[in-house]
Amino acid sequence: MAAGFLTFVALNFACLCVSGNLASGKRSFSIDYKNNCFLKDDQPFQYISGSIHYSRIPQYYWKDRLLKMYMTGLNAVQVYVPWNFHEGAQGVYNFTGDRDLEHFLNLANQTGLLVILRPGPYICAEWEMGGLPAWLLQKPNIILRSADTDYLQAVSNWFAVLLPKIKPWLYINGGNIISVQVENEYGSYYACDYNYMRHLQTLFRFFLGEDTVLFTTDGNTDKEMTCGTLEGLYATVDFGTDTNISEAFKRQRRFEPRGPLVNSEFYTGWLDHWGDQHARVTTEKVSKVLGEMLTMGANVNMYMFEGGTNFGYWNGKDNCFVTSYDYDAPLSEAGDPTEKLLAIRDVIKQFRDIPAGPMPPATPKFAYGFVTLKKVGSVSALLSTLSPMGPVQSHYPLTFEEMKQYYGYMLYRTTLPRDLSEPTPLISPLNGVHDRAYVSVNGVYQGLLQRDTALVMNVTGHQGDTVDILVENMGRVNFGSKINDYKGLLSNLILGKDVLTDWKIYSLDIDGAITGGWPHSARKQSNPPMKKELSFGPNLYMGTFPPNGLSWDTFLKLNEWTKGQVWINGMNLGRYWPARGPQQTLYVPGPLLSSNQPNNITVLELEGAPAHLRVLFMDRPQLNQRLPTHPAPPRKHKEYEVLLPIVQ
Ligand SMILES: *[C@@H]1O[C@H](CO)[C@@H](O)[C@H](O)[C@H]1NC(C)=O
Ligand SMILES: *[C@@H]1O[C@H](CO)[C@@H](O)[C@H](O)[C@H]1NC(C)=O
Ligand SMILES: *[C@@H]1O[C@H](CO)[C@@H](O)[C@H](O)[C@H]1NC(C)=O
Ligand SMILES: *[C@@H]1O[C@H](CO)[C@@H](O)[C@H](O)[C@H]1NC(C)=O
Ligand SMILES: *[C@@H]1O[C@H](CO)[C@@H](O)[C@H](O)[C@H]1NC(C)=O
Repeated sequence: MAAGFLTFVALNFACLCVSGNLASGKRSFSIDYKNNCFLKDDQPFQYISGSIHYSRIPQYYWKDRLLKMYMTGLNAVQVYVPWNFHEGAQGVYNFTGDRDLEHFLNLANQTGLLVILRPGPYICAEWEMGGLPAWLLQKPNIILRSADTDYLQAVSNWFAVLLPKIKPWLYINGGNIISVQVENEYGSYYACDYNYMRHLQTLFRFFLGEDTVLFTTDGNTDKEMTCGTLEGLYATVDFGTDTNISEAFKRQRRFEPRGPLVNSEFYTGWLDHWGDQHARVTTEKVSKVLGEMLTMGANVNMYMFEGGTNFGYWNGKDNCFVTSYDYDAPLSEAGDPTEKLLAIRDVIKQFRDIPAGPMPPATPKFAYGFVTLKKVGSVSALLSTLSPMGPVQSHYPLTFEEMKQYYGYMLYRTTLPRDLSEPTPLISPLNGVHDRAYVSVNGVYQGLLQRDTALVMNVTGHQGDTVDILVENMGRVNFGSKINDYKGLLSNLILGKDVLTDWKIYSLDIDGAITGGWPHSARKQSNPPMKKELSFGPNLYMGTFPPNGLSWDTFLKLNEWTKGQVWINGMNLGRYWPARGPQQTLYVPGPLLSSNQPNNITVLELEGAPAHLRVLFMDRPQLNQRLPTHPAPPRKHKEYEVLLPIVQ
């Protein structure tokens, strides 16, 4: 395949990555500006890498996924560090269990994989708030990703914890990290603040030393490259299969006239929104473009190699990403090798020897079948369990951030100021519902308000009736100028002519209750035979299924349920929304299931459960089905749409 690309080679001063003499013995990793290469231990070095996010894969499976990447012929993995995953409350850090970054680095090292580390502080990644902790928003008007003093102070504090952990893992110090990215596609952000980038550069140099290869990654336009790059940080580009490769690398050359060609994010697939089709990038295109870039001697990182899952509340938002981050990547969401992976391995084989031996197989899957749930109660009726601290009283509504509850759901309660015998409009005049508000009056569900798309609904009732508004945080915006994405009721609601006031605001710790064993551990109810009546609005359901000796991966389908959140044995699997699609099943990692105790399911259904109250465990995923009765909403965010093809 080489002949066709000789012109590219000449054009881009390709690195001739031939093996030379034996290494001198001292570990080194650097950029050779003379020969347009990376140099590892003084030898020309080209990486073929894949992105994997430890925060989207249970720790139990890290080794399996890394081994599969190694067996494909990769010599490196590229890894984001999500700040908010580790510093959930300011100054409180977690690096254990699924958050054990050093364990992940160690497994990669044992597997024979180098690491390209991307510690942000901002990472985008379709991750909640692009990895920034929501507690930063406690300063009103904070300018994120800029030289704002409070923001910089928080970043400095975080890096003073993170980077010393990283330092021993640098390749030059005996570890496997060959290079470290500074910020992430900063040129796509409006601020274009060089003081901020210089501050980051100083921090990285202070903690990691002068010899570490630091780089930036930007989308493929002059504007992005101009605002995202800084002298002293090696400038790289990112692009997918539909980009003209020689044009893209020419642009990198304008900013780095010499040095290795690098595509830091070569898109093997793409992300999914609720209401869209499941994204697909064909194997043929991925193989062809990968082969072309490798022929040029370029260094390539495939984004994603395995996407994994947005468990819990970790999905980011433009118009809302689905729970699966399958990404149509070479390893599926459940970590299974695909036809795309085998094709990529065949391409890599043409350029280097790949490890001998078979590709590890897919993990076994099991169809545990139907489980019938029963209703526990409405959220409103369960407040003493879900909100042990009780409400905060406030004349006007408070945001999630003001309440210091950053994720999930919060309940706002007030009373009807007058009799409403006719349907009366409840309005969010300033589009202040972030993101969905489920409204009940005296326990009867009346409908919902939704950011950007449904700012008015009708309410009836009597003066003094209790109005409960459960507000769902759908995940914070992770890209663009609107990342200061406060949640909850950000402005007043107006009912007819009245501004609603005098709120009781309940922080809800649903996860805390479920992690503690509730509702399954609760004293057995007498279980009156329940009428199979439909109930609407936010309700909790529970069920169990008996152990069968296996804890195999499975996929949970909530057929005819509407929208909500689901937990199994205390773990929050994420959001489901089959009515919107395209994702119909949630990935359930096998190690979560008990082989000898009853397995516990809890479902928070926000709008309406089906009469059958059944859920189904299947042995395969369904990620691409949109129900015809629920057309996709019109797409809203113009800015994102324009920039979408070039960002990640
Ligand atoms: C830290 O994170 C792990 C993995 O998610 C979790 O199991 C553990 O409970 C967390 N620790 C604390 C103190 O929150
Ligand atoms: C990484 O792996 C290599 C080769 O197995 C080993 O020599 C080295 O000590 C490991 N580094 C760390 C930091 O564990
Ligand atoms: C890429 O762009 C160059 C001009 O810079 C053009 O000559 C070439 O034909 C283009 N390649 C493809 C595959 O479109
Ligand atoms: C509210 O009720 C009025 C009167 O019945 C009706 O015309 C209007 O369409 C309703 N609005 C909504 C948003 O349902
Ligand atoms: C499910 O809940 C029951 C009741 O609390 C408990 O005994 C059991 O251990 C739970 N199962 C698992 C797998 O945690």
